[in-house]
Amino acid sequence: MLSYLHGFHAGNFADVHKHLIFALVLEHLLKKDKPMAVIDVYAGSGFYDLGDARAKKTGEADSGIAALPDTAWPEAAAPYREVVRRAAAHHWPPRFYPGSPQIAADLTRSKDRLVFNELHPREYEALKARFASDSRVHVHHRDALESLVALVPPPEKRGLVLIDPSYEVKDEYRTVPEALAKAEERWPTGTFLLWYPLLAGGAHHPFVQTVERQTNGPLLQTEFCVRPPGAGMYGSGMMILNPPWTLAGSLESLRGWFGQLQGPGGLLRVREVRGQ
Ligand SMILES: C[S@@+](CC[C@H](N)C(=O)[O-])C[C@H]1O[C@@H](n2cnc3c(N)ncnc32)[C@H](O)[C@@H]1O
Repeated sequence: MLSYLHGFHAGNFADVHKHLIFALVLEHLLKKDKPMAVIDVYAGSGFYDLGDARAKKTGEADSGIAALPDTAWPEAAAPYREVVRRAAAHHWPPRFYPGSPQIAADLTRSKDRLVFNELHPREYEALKARFASDSRVHVHHRDALESLVALVPPPEKRGLVLIDPSYEVKDEYRTVPEALAKAEERWPTGTFLLWYPLLAGGAHHPFVQTVERQTNGPLLQTEFCVRPPGAGMYGSGMMILNPPWTLAGSLESLRGWFGQLQGPGGLLRVREVRGQ
């Protein structure tokens, strides 16, 4: 039973952390002329209205994207800024916010191929409708972890996979690393971005260790904590397998910018788990 709907959380601090990294990795891959594949196995509906009832109910974007100023974004955040401003039609604070599929569609070229997967029936329908006229986009309605393994390696042999589970099912802390390990075995040169929440229960600690143990390629970890551990999600984590060599430096340079979203006790961590 899928009850998670990203519309309640779109544009929150975790989306800022995750989508900024996603845009930086895309930008790096786009430097090469060859076509690439972008595979988003937990895609959501693709685009969000921050003025609708879901977003207003939680108000999470208010301490995320809407808390950032319109101007003076650092150069390293430029690709993310571009897609966010485009979705917002240059109004600030933004009324509309791009999900990961929209970010991928906006940043890539006509020769790239985009595969978006979503299991929730209504989210899937919204996603399919949104990209119906984009011939680069292939929308799937299947289980994310099954598709993660089945869809790699893509024919292009270049590209990335975003793995952004909702962690509604406890078992995902075991099944996600397992599927990632299988996908890496099938596509050792692919870049994989795996998001996870930082919650007071600490389930992410063994999860991160499992990912470290079960994968082989260069691995970067970043965690963005907005407050000390307490009730609810206090931070956003991302593990990047086969990261661009420039990513750690770009994130380090954005430490001060991320600081705008932190309360006391907040912190951006960047850790090279295994080098290139
Ligand atoms: C965190 S949201 C994705 C947000 C999106 N990646 C973004 O950044 O805009 C997770 C999505 O995964 C979907 N989902 C949950 N379990 C799934 C599964 N087993 N297979 C495919 N999709 C699933 C949920 O319906 C939800 O839309």
